[in-house]
Amino acid sequence: MLQVTSRPENTCQTARLSTWQISMAGSIPHAFIEDLLARIDIVDVIEPRLKLKKTGQNYQALCPFHNEKTPSFSVNQVKQFYYCFGCQASGDALKFLMEHDRMEFVQAVESLASMAGMEVPRETTNESSQRQEKRKSLYEVLQNVCTYYKTQLREHEHRSRAADYLKGRGLSGEIARDFAIGFAPDGWDNVYRKLAVTNADRQLLIDSGMLVEKEEEDKVYDRFRNRIMFPIRDRKGRVIAFGGRVLGDDKPKYLNSPETQIFHKSRELYGLHEAMRASRRIERVLVVEGYMDVIALAQHGVKNAVATLGTATSREHLERLYRLVPEIVFCFDGDDAGQKAAWKALQEALPLMKDGLSAKFLFLPQGEDPDSMIRQEGNSRFISRVDSAQHLPQFFFQDLSGQVELDSMEGKAKLSKLAMPLIGAIPEGVFKQLMIDELAKLTGLAADRLVNVATPKERARPFQQKTPAPPQRQRESTQLSLADSAIALLFRQPELVHECSDGEYEQLQALEDENCTLLLELVRKIQLDSGISAVMLLSQQQDGPHFDKLRGLAERDHLLQPGDLPAEYKGIIQKLLSQIKIQDFQQLKRRIDQTSMADLSPEERQKIQDAINSRKHIKSE
Ligand code: GTP
Ligand code: MN
Repeated sequence: MLQVTSRPENTCQTARLSTWQISMAGSIPHAFIEDLLARIDIVDVIEPRLKLKKTGQNYQALCPFHNEKTPSFSVNQVKQFYYCFGCQASGDALKFLMEHDRMEFVQAVESLASMAGMEVPRETTNESSQRQEKRKSLYEVLQNVCTYYKTQLREHEHRSRAADYLKGRGLSGEIARDFAIGFAPDGWDNVYRKLAVTNADRQLLIDSGMLVEKEEEDKVYDRFRNRIMFPIRDRKGRVIAFGGRVLGDDKPKYLNSPETQIFHKSRELYGLHEAMRASRRIERVLVVEGYMDVIALAQHGVKNAVATLGTATSREHLERLYRLVPEIVFCFDGDDAGQKAAWKALQEALPLMKDGLSAKFLFLPQGEDPDSMIRQEGNSRFISRVDSAQHLPQFFFQDLSGQVELDSMEGKAKLSKLAMPLIGAIPEGVFKQLMIDELAKLTGLAADRLVNVATPKERARPFQQKTPAPPQRQRESTQLSLADSAIALLFRQPELVHECSDGEYEQLQALEDENCTLLLELVRKIQLDSGISAVMLLSQQQDGPHFDKLRGLAERDHLLQPGDLPAEYKGIIQKLLSQIKIQDFQQLKRRIDQTSMADLSPEERQKIQDAINSRKHIKSE
């Protein structure tokens, strides 16, 4: 097993070297190839071509490059390369395509780029090498700045202020070294004077965000002053930016490097390099909010935490992490903002939840962060919190159920309505099916029918606001029409349909009223499918023109007790029937206006009499 770690690293470099040489000679910028390889997953490249079997952290297969009966071809997902113990074939995703599919370099790059949905940029050799040189110089200059800040923490005359601050936060020298923590002394031109020796240096310091340029005066000054400095390193350990914290209570508390050619906030995670270095095999990663959370956790032996850089967790962050570990635990403050942030992270995670991956949510007591928490209660109690964090499905259904009244039909309908578009975003697989089954259990709706609840429209844009429709409360106070009241009752209890006779429903057809037509349509649906649930009834209407209205009716709060519903429903239907008589009367009245009473047939005269009677009757009610 030892071989696995030492050997392939070299061979992997060889593969990179060859792509580098070719790209120098050709027209594809090297930086693009790096980005490309960071974005795709070697497992996705190899899987369609070989039969891969997961064995611990690695995948195994029969080697495609030599004849064998037992698999010695191994794919390391963490390090993104393959290696064969039998024939020593090895390399990254690009090399695999070139060797296995016998592609040319450019063709292999294009094939990977189309997998990643990226366009291959072309540059002249000159441009490409210039850009490459520039990036290299940026890494170099930032490494020099990092060394400078570290030295200041040891040697500057005010170093004790910084050292005391770090000590006060419980950090040891060892941890400060692991994270390369430094000190930016007070003053406007420390970095400038020390490191901007030539004009080229000056420009690099500006481009890397370390110096701020004052345009009008052609002056520059140090961006970071009187701060504790946290270098942000990429996965390979190169310094790409800094975060700086004030020593006291000044504002802003934290200052980050701006976006640069080599630093993209939405992509990078603070502490990832350190976490990967601390342990060869990480099973899970904790995602926390702050630099100090990562560092304090490491101080207490929890070395697998990373932080987003003052931004929300992005899809890119998660893709990157799931390439390395199968489990992500999100840590949040237990307050409302924490819940919101957690929900946002959940939405980003759903489309990535392939079988075998998992996400958990840890909510800390209000006002605590991982730093304060682990300092208070120590490693093992913190770890047991992490172990008992909520699994994604638990958090998902708990949060959504909190938005509806699950003991009512309306609530169940609403739950399936909220949940299905989100579940629809999960990749096909066992996990998705389990989520559907759980929803079925909660709503009492058969799983295979639930799948139809998400309308095509919503599947296309699964990520909506957490609360999709504004609550229909205003409508609550307004009086519903009779037909709408009957519809609302049917959504509460579809069996109410049987309180009235077919004859009565037939008579209602005479009523020229849109709401009543809709009511009769629902009545027919229920009669045809006895035992249909309210949720199903509503979901059948999803593509119809009346869906929003019907959903509003289904979601209405009812003050009536279940026992009173049949009488209420029958009463409404009776009132509707008497409206037919009024409608008839009005039609007759129009006839009378046009002709005279004498011209009416005996039946028509009788009808008028009936109508007058029933009208009196209704009025007296
Ligand atoms: P400490 O007070 O040092 O414990 O920091 P914290 O990590 O608890 O800070 P907080 O929860 O306030 O912030 C979490 C993260 O948000 C920090 O690590 C920063 O990345 C970011 N952040 C906080 N304050 C600021 C700020 O004023 N400006 C910027 N740009 N980012 C900030
Ligand atoms: Mn804190």
